[in-house]
This record gives sequence, structure tokens and C-alpha cells, in this order.
Amino acid sequence: MDHGIQGRTADETGASSGIGLATEHALAAEGARVVMVARNTDRLHVAAAAIDGDVSTLAADVTDPRTPDRIGSADILVNNAGTSAARPLEDLTDDEWQAQWDLHVMAPLRLMRALAPAMAERGWGRIVNVGSSSGKRASRTNSAYSVTKAAQHMLSRVFAEEYVTRGVLVNTVAPGPTESGLWTAEGGLADQTAELRGVSREDALQAARDKIPLGRFGTEEEVAAVIAFLCSERASDVVGANWSVDGGTVPLPL
Ligand SMILES: NC(=O)c1ccc[n+]([C@@H]2O[C@H](COP(=O)([O-])OP(=O)(O)OC[C@H]3O[C@@H](n4cnc5c(N)ncnc54)[C@H](OP(=O)(O)O)[C@@H]3O)[C@@H](O)[C@H]2O)c1
Repeated sequence: MDHGIQGRTADETGASSGIGLATEHALAAEGARVVMVARNTDRLHVAAAAIDGDVSTLAADVTDPRTPDRIGSADILVNNAGTSAARPLEDLTDDEWQAQWDLHVMAPLRLMRALAPAMAERGWGRIVNVGSSSGKRASRTNSAYSVTKAAQHMLSRVFAEEYVTRGVLVNTVAPGPTESGLWTAEGGLADQTAELRGVSREDALQAARDKIPLGRFGTEEEVAAVIAFLCSERASDVVGANWSVDGGTVPLPL
């Protein structure tokens, strides 16, 4: 299927690894001119070098209010930067709550606020916010993650309604547990959960798999395929949706 985005400019945050990097491969393969945003310059350059297509990079922290000006205008925006850590509710500090809010709500808010008006002036735009199944039902792995992802989902819906008549289509993709570094890297969620629960890493991973009706984690490419579709011309009647890519984890079509 031709996504119809040849020559479109696509800014994506959190683009140097995991779901973001897989999305960059998918968008570049469709002929989009991708701009990869993440903090670590070396990792960005290594990731960009592996992509076949028109690729540029910007080393920036999305929680810095000056970042939207540095990123510049685009036809497509993917707000993908995000992270979590296994933290019991009673241990979460105010700073941790604030950091999750800044990353999952303020950063995508500022980027949409900066980029959506120019998309609307040109009469075409696509924005995808990468939320989480944890934003659709309470997750006790990290309540601050769960609450701020839920807020990100509503932020996405608010922008969808605001811009729908001006050619800018805003949607959310809500992955469930996905085989990216966030879960599987050394010290990632698998190791952290294992330590918190006093079980082995494999037992922690199996406990997570047991909660997924499909019986396995998603892959970065499976999530990226849905994001890329929602960035495309083909998704011309999809607005304000919140698409689960979670192997059936969240039982309600929220
Ligand atoms: N993996 C899962 O199981 C899962 C499940 C549900 C939802 N999600 C969501 O999917 C998105 C991607 O997750 P992932 O698993 O692909 O994560 P990942 O592999 O850890 O990649 C995260 C990316 O975000 C960048 N990043 C983090 N903080 C940033 C900041 N402040 N400014 C700019 N870039 C930043 C990282 O690069 P630098 O560190 O160099 O900045 C990296 O490129 C996140 O929003 C996450 O919440 C993931």
C-alpha cells in the first residue's frame, strides 16, 4: 500500500531507538523526509546512519520549552518520546510525578501548539501521539506513567477536535508491552520489576506476557506500522482515535 506521503516532512521525537526508530524506518521507506529528535547525539547519529532515505537529526530534550522552535515546521508530527520506571505508588516523589507530566503532557502539548497551526494553514497535517495501554487502565508498575499517559490521550483528543475541520488529523496509538529497550534493555522494566517483586527476570517477563491475551509482547515494527498508517494519506477518515496495539490487553475499546 502506498501511504501517499512521498516528500512530506515528518518530525518525530524519541526517534533514536525502539518504537520511534522503527517508525522512522517505516516513514523513510514511504519517501517522507524524516527529522529524528532525541537527546543523545551519538545514538541519534548511529540510528540515522542505518536508515535508507532522507534523514536529518536534532539533538534536543523535548521537555525543554525552547525545543519546538528548534525543531521547525513539518507536515507530520509523531510525539513518541516517553519513558517509565517500575516504582511503587508510595515511593514516587513529587519530582518523579512532575518529570512524567513534563515528558508525556507538556512536551507533546508544546510541539502540537507550535506545529499544528502551520499545518492547518497549508490544509494538511498528521499528528500521532504515542500513549500507552497504561493510560487506558490503571497500571501499578508506575502510577505517574499511567496517569500522565491518560492525560496525554485526552490532550490528543482535544487537539483532534480543535483541528479536524482544518485538514490536520490527530490520533493516538496506545501500545501494550512492546519488546523495546524500555522493557528488555539491561536495567529496563523487566529487571526493575524482577527486583521489586523478588523474582527472576524471566519470571517478570512471563508474568507480563500472561496478562496479554495474544500471549506475547508486541514488536517495535508492529507498533510502527500502525503509527505510519495514521501518518498517511490513507488514514484520511481517522480522527481523534486511540488505537490499541497491545495484543488485546485493554478489554474495552476506549
Ligand atoms: N515499550 C513499551 O512496552 C511501551 C508500551 C507502551 C507505550 N510505550 C511508549 O512508546 C514510546 C516509545 O517507547 P520505547 O519503548 O520505544 O522507548 P525507548 O526504546 O526507551 O526509546 C525512547 C526514545 O525516546 C528518547 N527520549 C527519551 N526521553 C527524551 C526526551 N526528554 N527528549 C527527547 N527524546 C527523549 C530516547 O532517546 P534519548 O534517551 O537519547 O533522548 C529514545 O530515542 C514512549 O512514549 C512509551 O511510553 C512503550
